[in-house]
Amino acid sequence: MNSFTFYNPTKLIFGKGQLRQLESELTHYGKKVLLVYGGGSIKRSGLYDRVMAILEKAGAQVFELPGVEPNPRLSTVHKGVEICKNENIDFLLAVGGGSVIDCTKAVAAGAKYDGDVWDIVTKKAAAADALPFGTVLTLAATGSEMNSGSVITNWETKEKYGWGSPYTFPKFSILEPENTFTVPKNQTIYGIVDMMSHVFEQYFHHVSNTPLQDRMCESVLKTVMEAGPKLVNDLENFELRETILYAGTIALNGMLQMGYQGDWATHNIEHAVSAVYDIPHGGGLAILFPNWMKHTLKENVGRYKQLAVRVFDVNPEGKTDEETALEGIEKLREFWSSIGAPSRLADYDIGDENLELMADKAMVYGEFGRFKVLNKEDVLAILRASL
Ligand code: NZQ
Ligand code: ZN
Repeated sequence: MNSFTFYNPTKLIFGKGQLRQLESELTHYGKKVLLVYGGGSIKRSGLYDRVMAILEKAGAQVFELPGVEPNPRLSTVHKGVEICKNENIDFLLAVGGGSVIDCTKAVAAGAKYDGDVWDIVTKKAAAADALPFGTVLTLAATGSEMNSGSVITNWETKEKYGWGSPYTFPKFSILEPENTFTVPKNQTIYGIVDMMSHVFEQYFHHVSNTPLQDRMCESVLKTVMEAGPKLVNDLENFELRETILYAGTIALNGMLQMGYQGDWATHNIEHAVSAVYDIPHGGGLAILFPNWMKHTLKENVGRYKQLAVRVFDVNPEGKTDEETALEGIEKLREFWSSIGAPSRLADYDIGDENLELMADKAMVYGEFGRFKVLNKEDVLAILRASL
């Protein structure tokens, strides 16, 4: 493996009833709090009232940024930055899924930046500071609760980019499995696909001697594949929600990626697709990932064979390595279809009208991907295979 430095300062507070720790966490920060949330799920579930009661008890002066969209938009980030600057906000509290947390990260960095926060998202400027923030996670998927990344969409220009900085790790994240009971079936499925995709992005690399990392990745995949199908048919099962919630965090908090860097090309292509069509991130990944895998199979058939045998229980006897590898990819497709994930862009009524546009958006920073470097022709081939 390569030399590495691991840094993750987020305090993870996990388990039933742990929201009660919010009050003591808040004592470390100032009293002016901006509460950030989405389109209303936290009001319907009663979580909003529970959080507000704790904020009140802590003596906080609460300001609100509601209505954060799935695939959070720059326009909403701007509103949040304005509130922070006008009201001298001390601390931000994100209550919601990855979109709410990502928006909060951008607001936190934008509040400490003199120009337009879009400069930071597009990497024209680097965040030099950010307001402190904590999260109460309601959806298992992105891992945003314990990483420094954020993905923001500029809907006017149809651009969606990921960015991150050492200043945008949450100070703390509170994960109560019971807060994910109300996540609908489709979002639960997208979350499962997303966390598995995060593992795949990290699993495919060319660095040698990563046996423990491999086994850790495989064990997250196996665990999610065991619990996921049961969960989609039993949405309020505490233990299944707990397992999936924990898996989502582990999949993208840096633990799996020590000693090498992942590929991340499929995420880049998905962000280009959802910038143009505003489809759910997990849905896009379910369509694209098996096609990226087939496209990159020849880069390292051995690695695909290992995945097929260890994770998808493919019997390699009497088969070439390539046949074993391909069977593994087919089994992944079958697994995602079996839980109800989409498999073609046509499932979202997306045809071939904007393939060039999406490929250009994916190429905006040039060629990308570490396992296999993709050029525009590669991206177009993957998109065409996904129609
Ligand atoms: O807006 P509300 O009303 O809260 O409803 C949301 C939203 O409609 C709903 N929801 C969330 N928790 C719920 C719930 N409904 C009922 N009960 C609950 N407990 O679910 C819908 C989707 O929420 P969203 O936050 O958009 O989902 P997710 O967590 O999958 O986040 C997706 C975003 O994260 C980005 C994606 O690109 C996308 O923009 N990503 C962020 C990453 C990161 N920061 O590290 C990495 C990922 O790869 C990903 O790219
Ligand atoms: Zn993702």
